[in-house]
Amino acid sequence: QSLNENASGSRTGALVPPPILEKLEKIDVNPPKGTRDFPPEEMRLRSWIFHNFREVSRLFGFEEVDYPVLESEALFIRKAGEEIRDQLYSFEDRGNRRVALRPELTPSLARVVIQKGKSVSLPLKWFAIGQCWRYERMTRGRRREHYQWNMDIIGVPGVMAEAELISSIVTFFKRLGITSSDVGFKVSSRKVLQEVLQCYSIPEHLFGKVCVIIDKMEKIPLEEIKTELGSAGVSEKAIVDLLQVMSVKSLSELEEKLGSAGDAIVELKQLFSLADKFGYSEWIQFDASVVRGLAYYTGVVFEGFDREGKLRAICGGGRYDKLLSTFGGDDIPACGFGFGDAVIVELLKEKGLMPELNLQVENIVCPLDQELQGAAATIATILREKGQSVDLVLENKPLKWVFKRAARINASRLILVGNSEWQKGMVKVKVLATGEQYEIELNQLE
Ligand code: HAM
Repeated sequence: QSLNENASGSRTGALVPPPILEKLEKIDVNPPKGTRDFPPEEMRLRSWIFHNFREVSRLFGFEEVDYPVLESEALFIRKAGEEIRDQLYSFEDRGNRRVALRPELTPSLARVVIQKGKSVSLPLKWFAIGQCWRYERMTRGRRREHYQWNMDIIGVPGVMAEAELISSIVTFFKRLGITSSDVGFKVSSRKVLQEVLQCYSIPEHLFGKVCVIIDKMEKIPLEEIKTELGSAGVSEKAIVDLLQVMSVKSLSELEEKLGSAGDAIVELKQLFSLADKFGYSEWIQFDASVVRGLAYYTGVVFEGFDREGKLRAICGGGRYDKLLSTFGGDDIPACGFGFGDAVIVELLKEKGLMPELNLQVENIVCPLDQELQGAAATIATILREKGQSVDLVLENKPLKWVFKRAARINASRLILVGNSEWQKGMVKVKVLATGEQYEIELNQLE
């Protein structure tokens, strides 16, 4: 019902007073635990990080994509006992569908690739920056929502793809001033585990589950890992062998253990040789203990870590050649990574690399009395049409206030609209850095 209609709908001409709202309990002004607000200064930092994500993705020729934050719960339910499943924000919607806030982007990517089918030409090089939700135990750099930059390559079976992805992350670090003495990548391949498991004829469908258990090695006692592996059907001898291989820290030692013919060793050697050609050898090291916690990885896996060991993984990724068939699609080789927006900020703080990001508006335009508001509006429009940013003073304010505001928004020019100048089609301009002052005609405003 509009303001001046009565109950029967006829116009009365009189204003109906606004309804009195029911008073509620005083609300908690903090956002839900583990989530963040982005007031302007935080938003500037976030935009700066995203800008760098986008710029690197552009340098590598990737296209931007996104998916819904709310997905069908089934997309994220895998049977391997991953942590991510227990952290799911899921519920039933009003139409009785089980839905979940996405904890990651990869299943959505797989869904879209299946949906597009043969209409896309491979390889796809896609990137996304999306908010993900995980009910995590909160630690430094780990929260219940985070934004994740993903780059994925679909349709390339060889490790040239992984080498390209790591190169893009190195490019990102370098742009931010982070060097190879600050961070590195631990690289391995799940094929290392696969080769050991094959020796003991452990069925292939257990592979993801075994990887997820082994990934917990740094978080839970070794005895528990052994018990879990045992209940998953891995024999005692195989467990001993698996754990031994996991402690290998060099490719030559791995070659001694597995021989030189297997896919794991061949691919890893090729990856290290490509890293040399890309020019980032000093950033990467082989470490068999890296498995990653997601069930779907099938080949090379990697994670970015800070060399001081103060923070959790900065980013992580790998090859997932079999994910599409778990959703009923035809498999296409794929690999990618996720890079969160939280740990990187902690790292920048640690290294004294936080950027100084200030609000900057080029002009502040101020009418010197109420009657000149229209004139000020015209000037603002002229400048904005020329691509200049303008903070228009919207109320009658004393000059002292205007100067203070100009300083706060880092304005370069103050444009004062006074009566006598305006009569002549002119305005007064003050260059704030130098104090220089002049009068100028409207059509000369640049
Ligand atoms: P992930 O290892 O679960 O992989 O996460 C990737 C990155 O996301 C982490 O290294 C971290 O930077 C960030 N991250 C994850 N959880 C949190 C959290 N609770 N708080 C803050 N940051 C977090 C994946 O999600 C894979 N889908 C990545 C991928 C893409 N693999 C292939 N393509």
